[in-house]
Amino acid sequence: MAVNTQVKLLKKEKLKEDVMKFTCLTPEIASTAVPGQFIEIKVSKTFEPFLRRPISIFNIEKDKNLIEFIFQIKGRGTSFLSEVEEGEYIDVVGPLGDGVFNIKQCKNIAIIGGGIGIFPLYELAKENIDNISINTYLGFRSKQFVLLEEEFKKVSTKLIISTDDGTYGNNGYAIDYLKSDFDKLNFDGIFACGPLPMLQKVKEFADSKNIYCQLSLEQRMACGIGACMGCSVKLNTNNDTIQYARVCKNGPVFESNKIDI
Ligand SMILES: Cc1cc2nc3c(=O)[nH]c(=O)nc-3n(C[C@H](O)[C@H](O)[C@H](O)COP(=O)(O)OP(=O)(O)OC[C@H]3O[C@@H](n4cnc5c(N)ncnc54)[C@H](O)[C@@H]3O)c2cc1C
Ligand code: FES
Repeated sequence: MAVNTQVKLLKKEKLKEDVMKFTCLTPEIASTAVPGQFIEIKVSKTFEPFLRRPISIFNIEKDKNLIEFIFQIKGRGTSFLSEVEEGEYIDVVGPLGDGVFNIKQCKNIAIIGGGIGIFPLYELAKENIDNISINTYLGFRSKQFVLLEEEFKKVSTKLIISTDDGTYGNNGYAIDYLKSDFDKLNFDGIFACGPLPMLQKVKEFADSKNIYCQLSLEQRMACGIGACMGCSVKLNTNNDTIQYARVCKNGPVFESNKIDI
């Protein structure tokens, strides 16, 4: 269950000029969090900015009462957050999200992430690598944006890094490498997070092949707790009715064939 708590920032690392990794002490969140969940962060001590910012949980260390999250400094909110110093406390609500990653009976899965969407996929791979085969496809725009290669190597049976411009790893889009591996590896599940065009391609492929597939959506959020419908996603229905789900409450992870993106 989600709690509103003060988490202590133990370690602050700069992964890139504009990408920070925070390690936080929080027994309440670490003890219940599962892969795919996120937290809502109050980024300043004042009411400015008013809205909390959603950030995925990257790593959970239950025995140490720690969670880690990684964020890109995009605008005002994440810029404020990047100024918090080690030893200080951050006001957080979490873990959030009823829709989480669920590998069900899968034994041989593909994980696909793009850009800063790769973060929630790490804990999923970490928790399952001892029991199933995990084929990971990570795509970035260019060499300078490549992140967490060593970390994902440790939690993957196979790791393919690709860049859109071919400046690092394989040349082209991650989805094309996943598709070309499918004939020989025959994945029984696909789990994805990243930019919308990538998720649309993953959904199209998985649905056409009837592969169990979950997508983690990073819709812009307002309230973050299911009260405003600001983060709605259209659901697939078998009739003419139009139905929506809330990414913050019912997601952020959805089965690909249940949503219309
Ligand atoms: C469930 C969920 C999990 C997320 N996990 C992570 C994460 O692990 N790491 C991370 O770096 N970011 C993550 N995000 C995105 C992150 O919440 C936004 O980048 C952040 O809220 C921007 O706040 P800001 O005040 O810095 O920028 P703002 O000033 O609010 O916006 C600056 C720019 O960022 C864009 N932006 C804002 N929100 C989003 C969004 N949700 N998706 C794409 N672009 C956005 C705006 O359009 C604008 O161009 C996640 C979002 C969701 C919904
Ligand atoms: S952000 Fe308000 S319902 Fe999701």
